[in-house]
Amino acid sequence: MDGDRDDAADLAPTVTLAKLYEEQGFLDKAASVYKRLLAIEPGQTELKEALEAVEKRLSGTIPLSRKSETQTLLGPSTGSEQATTERKKMVDEKSNEPRRILVIHGPNLNMLGRREPSVYGTSTLEDIDEEIKKTAVECGMSADTFQSNHEGELIEKIYEAIDGYEVLIINPAAYTHTSIALRDALLTLDIPIIEVHLSNIYRRESFRQKSMIADVVTAQVGGFGKDGYTMAVRAAANMTIKA
Ligand code: DQA
Repeated sequence: MDGDRDDAADLAPTVTLAKLYEEQGFLDKAASVYKRLLAIEPGQTELKEALEAVEKRLSGTIPLSRKSETQTLLGPSTGSEQATTERKKMVDEKSNEPRRILVIHGPNLNMLGRREPSVYGTSTLEDIDEEIKKTAVECGMSADTFQSNHEGELIEKIYEAIDGYEVLIINPAAYTHTSIALRDALLTLDIPIIEVHLSNIYRRESFRQKSMIADVVTAQVGGFGKDGYTMAVRAAANMTIKA
């Protein structure tokens, strides 16, 4: 991971960024962005209130998400031209909401870090998921992640992407090579799908060199280890939504 580096400090402060951090649970980063915005516009009552609310959540006083207030804050009423421009760039053109990505991990990926580290690296799935969510927020999107060792559960989750998400990123793991059922489920989607593999499956055993979903997905990333996921997230920000 990134050690002590403060990623929030590397990005231009905008209300959109702060709210995305907030929604994804990175409350300390959200607070840091609000503070930087308030340094630019000290009179902004909405910003002060938003910062107070985040600080209360950080101290455990308010545990719930403030999604409806998010929408108000994301509007042009913040008075910051930069925030409005950033918002236009970051939101999905169809829905006017940040683009939502679903990331699905298949069987045995819950064992990353302990499972064949020479092939799959030493990061745990928890590390990877955190990095995915952080990268999504940095790109003005939000990401939900899911892992299962069960084919049927993976299929049910794919269905959730039909109306709930704008992009699907999937590493079906060993099901890549065997599952017509997963392939059929993916065919129900009308959104971009990115197939990710930690390893380069085309340089491995012959049984891994066939992906049952390769001709169904929009794009494939493989061989970059955990970075493949963040590459896919960044690419998702610019992918055209189908239909
Ligand atoms: C994998 C490659 C698959 O062949 C394997 O079964 C996995 C992981 C990858 O990410 O490289 O579990 O999908």
